[in-house]
Amino acid sequence: MNSSKSPCVLLTGGAGYVGSHTIIPLIESGYEVVVLDNLSNACKGDEGQKPVPITKVEEIVGKQVTFYNVDLLDYNSVAQIFDKHDISCVIHFAGLKAVGESCVIPLTYYRVNVSGSINLFEIMKAHNVKKLVFSSSSTVYGEPKFLPITESHSVGQNLLNGYAKSKYYIEGILQDLCNSDKEWNVIILRYFNPVGAHPSGQLGEDPTGIPNNLMPFVAQVAVGNRPCLKVFGNDYDTIDGTGVRDYLHIMDLADGHVSAVKKIETNSVNGAVAINLGTGNGFSVLQVIETFSQVSGRKIPYEIVGRRQGDCASSYCDASLAKSFLGWEAKKTLKEMCEDTWKWQSMYPKGFSTAK
Ligand code: NAD
Ligand code: UD1
Repeated sequence: MNSSKSPCVLLTGGAGYVGSHTIIPLIESGYEVVVLDNLSNACKGDEGQKPVPITKVEEIVGKQVTFYNVDLLDYNSVAQIFDKHDISCVIHFAGLKAVGESCVIPLTYYRVNVSGSINLFEIMKAHNVKKLVFSSSSTVYGEPKFLPITESHSVGQNLLNGYAKSKYYIEGILQDLCNSDKEWNVIILRYFNPVGAHPSGQLGEDPTGIPNNLMPFVAQVAVGNRPCLKVFGNDYDTIDGTGVRDYLHIMDLADGHVSAVKKIETNSVNGAVAINLGTGNGFSVLQVIETFSQVSGRKIPYEIVGRRQGDCASSYCDASLAKSFLGWEAKKTLKEMCEDTWKWQSMYPKGFSTAK
């Protein structure tokens, strides 16, 4: 980096799964990092200590990370962070993400995700910080109309849950904001299926309760925490009848954020641009089970059950815009995703609570 002072990047929700992994390449690329998180879905540290994922990141990078236990809905406390630090750019990860829960408590999802985002954007505007990277999701595309999914695929149609709608609404708010004020530079990252862990095995995904998603569930079966995986349907029109998804290594995803921040820092985005982050390849549930079983040397018992409501047969992206616009492409294979997940799961069989 050429400037004498490194740009400071604020990560909302930076103690969570994607945020904590993203701190590592940001610091390695020379950025100053400030994290805010209310720890509603991240492992707290012991009394007076930083959250466990942040402590793990500090051990990996050998640097201290500035951390605030602050709720995004608390306007004054968030504003104070902007008063205190010379923030150049924000990566907005904070939010609630459990699809099933969003159908049970939709108002909570809209309050945290939508109102929390509006709070943040207002504070940014008041502090003249107009560079933002936003965590969106492939879920905004709904049931794919064609594959691979490009960014020009329709969004917001037939979305079945509050989580998906909240992402779609926030994307719309950002488009309106950028239309109203040309100084904003916004990159909306639509993640496909982030999985895996830091290759050290010291940092990984630590879902609370029963995992909703495939890879953490497979890992918990492999390590013996759960007896059997339920495979949700084998009658889809796919290679083996099971659902196909675009799994993406978490460290590739983390690097994608660094590429987005670098792009934003050039002030050349001028508006809000949505970009898919995925590998462009799809793998079936049975292919994931087979690969995980090979790398772990563990048998993964599974039973085929009915389809999960709201699931589609296949979802994978066209990742060419990420390459041309951000100069980013995923490098890691499904085998590496499984290896690093297994390393983390076998070192910390009960997640971060084993690490305290
Ligand atoms: P996560 O739950 O691990 O991280 C989110 C963090 O935000 C948590 O640490 C949580 O404590 C914090 N948070 C929640 N509400 C907050 C609030 N009101 N104030 C401050 N902090 C708050 O989730 P993740 O997997 O790291 O996802 C990060 C972002 O990426 C989310 O917006 C999610 O919707 C999006 N996303 C994730 C995936 C995925 O598969 N992991 C896929 C697509 C999009
Ligand atoms: C999930 C989210 C979606 C988000 C996407 C990308 C849910 C319900 N949906 O969907 O909002 O945009 O990740 O991050 O959480 N499977 C099983 N058994 C299991 C779990 C999953 O067979 O126990 C299958 C699913 O049917 C699917 C595949 O595994 O075919 C992947 O599932 P999952 O990891 O939940 O990801 P998505 O379905 O893509």
